[in-house]
Amino acid sequence: MNHWNALADKHQAVNDRPIKQLFEDPSRAKNFSAQAGDMYFDFSKTNIDAETLEALLALASEMKVPETREAMFQGARINETEDRAVLHTALRNLDGEPVMVDGADVMPEVLDTLAAMRTFAEKIRGGHFTDVVNIGIGGSDLGPAMAVCALAPYHDGPRCHFVSNVDGADIADKLRDLDAKTTLVIVASKTFTTIETMTNARTARAWMIDHGGDPAKQFAALSTAPDKTVEFGIDPAHVFGFQDWVGGRYSMWGPIGLSLMIAIGPKAFDAFLRGAQDMDRHFRAADLQENLPVLLALVGIWHNQICDYATRAVLPYDERLNMLPSYLQQLEMESNGKGVMRSGDDSPRHTGPVVWGASGTNGQHAFYQLIHQGTRVIPCEFMLAAQGHEPELAHHHQLLVANCLAQSKALMQGRTLDEARAIVAAKGFEGDDLERQACHRVFPGNRPSTTLLYPQLDPFTLGQIIALYEHRVFVEGVILDIISFDQWGVELGKELATTLQPVVDGTKDTSGEDSSTAALVDFIHRHSA
Ligand code: F6P
Repeated sequence: MNHWNALADKHQAVNDRPIKQLFEDPSRAKNFSAQAGDMYFDFSKTNIDAETLEALLALASEMKVPETREAMFQGARINETEDRAVLHTALRNLDGEPVMVDGADVMPEVLDTLAAMRTFAEKIRGGHFTDVVNIGIGGSDLGPAMAVCALAPYHDGPRCHFVSNVDGADIADKLRDLDAKTTLVIVASKTFTTIETMTNARTARAWMIDHGGDPAKQFAALSTAPDKTVEFGIDPAHVFGFQDWVGGRYSMWGPIGLSLMIAIGPKAFDAFLRGAQDMDRHFRAADLQENLPVLLALVGIWHNQICDYATRAVLPYDERLNMLPSYLQQLEMESNGKGVMRSGDDSPRHTGPVVWGASGTNGQHAFYQLIHQGTRVIPCEFMLAAQGHEPELAHHHQLLVANCLAQSKALMQGRTLDEARAIVAAKGFEGDDLERQACHRVFPGNRPSTTLLYPQLDPFTLGQIIALYEHRVFVEGVILDIISFDQWGVELGKELATTLQPVVDGTKDTSGEDSSTAALVDFIHRHSA
């Protein structure tokens, strides 16, 4: 029997088994957790038992996870539809061991660019700049924006702002209070053709000229297309290039991370790279059953493909990771939201899940109701630091920790009808009223979660966390036999937006449009000045 069928049968067999029953084994937590350096991953509060884990590991081996992992690190062209290598790991290969693409070592260029970024970042940090505006979208925005927020305690450079949306509200609100003479604008775009970014870049340039700044001195660009940056008028000395083997959503480790480097300084940025490199080494060398990215991926496969839970919630109990769910949405959904396998055949099963979430404890007061008592099961991924950065507020951190641990416990344990009856009886309810009131206070429990613990959210740890998730996405993609590194699904909307533009601005009529689009355009025309 193949491993998918065996896992499906296993799911049927254990579906009604309470997770808490698994804790009758005193070594449950020990056997269903793993550590990489000082990062601890607990997946014991899931319904995965030893037999399931063995089947999941066998599936990973059958799908050639170890071989494909090695192929990725060695620069094979595993992004088959774009015929590209996938080498974001080279960007954090700080010790410079050769990485060959087409017979040439890419490391000298990677390290030269990193050195140039450091020099530039130090110049900006030591100069008169008060603010940096990063203009980019998707992978050219979410990574640095998320990391600048996450590493706020290490931020000792100019203020950083991120403009991504083509909605003029975004750039208008961000530029409003800035001094054009002391602002550096970074145009971050792998392709340097993305309509949102180029539109915002032109608006920022006009703003700077109008307000006494000098774009020749105050614009920088991050791109794989240096010719286009020069065409835009950016000084080549301010252009930091990278190669097409860095995917947009995997790019924050190189030039796309420039705003982060300016914010926290080259030394802390190096620590961030070191953290990712540490996770790379663990991922590449550790046995599958002790390998954090592999285990995280297998838990994902179990929940999303075998148990058919359509979403997963990422719940960092770390306020500074409040942009992580958005970052992971792009990383996971753009990578694994595919309908066909590598062969081009339709996937016989669901692929990437819907990823969503928010920081704890805020989420508790918003959507946890549904997670606890709703009709859908939502696997939860908790994250928590052993300590915060505010020693004077240690009691806040203790409350944060207690809340995080309480949530995974409550999701697993639930509350029975009898327990609920006792609670409402103590409140004075009786008879039918007691029964009815009790029903509303029942928690089904048996809702799975994992918890990732780390000592403190410092640059090294953030690097570990992001690399952990990158490799998790990779492993899930290999097991699903899909290509995780292209994104053809974003193309059609872009094309149609281009053809609709003249209809929207009125230079073309709506006669060629479907009646819904025509009516929408008509309403907009009637209600705009
Ligand atoms: O949304 C599609 C996409 O190509 C992403 O993959 C990418 O991160 C984003 O657009 C921005 O692209 P670029 O860096 O080329 O402007």
